[in-house]
Amino acid sequence: MVTMHDSSGRHIHYLRISVTDRCNLRCRYCMPETGVSFIPHEDVLSYEEIVRLAGIAASLGVDRIRLTGGEPLVRKGLPSLVSALKSVKGIRFVGLTTNGILLGEQAHALKDAGLDAVNISIDTLDADRYTANTRRPELARALAGLDAALAAGIGSVKVNCVLSPDSLPDDWLAVAGLAKRYPADVRFIEWMPLAGEQRPEGRADEARAMIQDTYGQLEPAASESDGGPARLSSLPGFLGKIGFIEAMSRAFCDRCNRLRLTAAGDLKLCLFYDVGVALKPLLRSGADDAIIRAAIEQAIAVKPRAHQGVQLRREAAASEPVIASVRGMYQTGG
Ligand code: 5AD
Ligand code: SF4
Repeated sequence: MVTMHDSSGRHIHYLRISVTDRCNLRCRYCMPETGVSFIPHEDVLSYEEIVRLAGIAASLGVDRIRLTGGEPLVRKGLPSLVSALKSVKGIRFVGLTTNGILLGEQAHALKDAGLDAVNISIDTLDADRYTANTRRPELARALAGLDAALAAGIGSVKVNCVLSPDSLPDDWLAVAGLAKRYPADVRFIEWMPLAGEQRPEGRADEARAMIQDTYGQLEPAASESDGGPARLSSLPGFLGKIGFIEAMSRAFCDRCNRLRLTAAGDLKLCLFYDVGVALKPLLRSGADDAIIRAAIEQAIAVKPRAHQGVQLRREAAASEPVIASVRGMYQTGG
């Protein structure tokens, strides 16, 4: 088995693949309501191109893949991509991060395709606040998606809740309560300023205190079995665990194991830096696997050691490939 390390000695084996920048929600902290310019369809990597890159990444030691967006389920035929990726030699895990709206329709097909895990984003259980936050009245469908994922028997089902600057403690308490009713971990993610906003205070400590006041002592639990970045705790009487992804208050860059492939085919090395390599020109100009493999290895060598909590454009040294600027999670992939 090949293992790949970056220049900071981190073992890189996890690839997040954004399959589209389009989305059926318009979360306020991610996208503007109107005027979003999406990648033209012909500039989005085809499934064949994605599977080829996954194979090359696997030959370098990547063994885990997560599909993200935008909203990955708005792209047609996603289960076929899941099963193709599951057949790539060396890929042991394929997960999906989704807002859940289309899971009611697709959970069974995804399970049949071999999907190992699904993370569903739900920031509030108040229908009016959900509609205000996402600009679409879709809470009921997102919750139906959670039910469908569990009913389909997908091996790991988690809920993601973003601690954005204007989210409310009532939201956190209600969403945490999902882990009481469902065998699903609920993870609170500190919001990150990915579109040039000011650095916020991380809100994990505040949320942790509120949850303990309401539900009882959080007991530290083993770290995520899939190597995820959340610090997990258990609560008395809860089926799922409660986790915190403290991207701002306690950055976990020293444990970072990931690469990101954008829908347009840029391999991105860190959410906070425009540094990486554009793979699509190589794919579409007939480059062989060895050339693409070398480009990925070169990019990994310049993976930033840590983020500063604000968007930085890294001054490009002559040897450093620089990729397009992205603004917001829908462009980078969550
Ligand atoms: N910071 C943290 N999380 C974010 N998400 C989207 N934008 C941000 C951000 N700026 C979340 C989504 C979803 C996951 C893909 O990332 O809500 O849970
Ligand atoms: Fe869509 Fe996710 Fe962005 Fe919300 S956060 S608009 S669900 S891509």
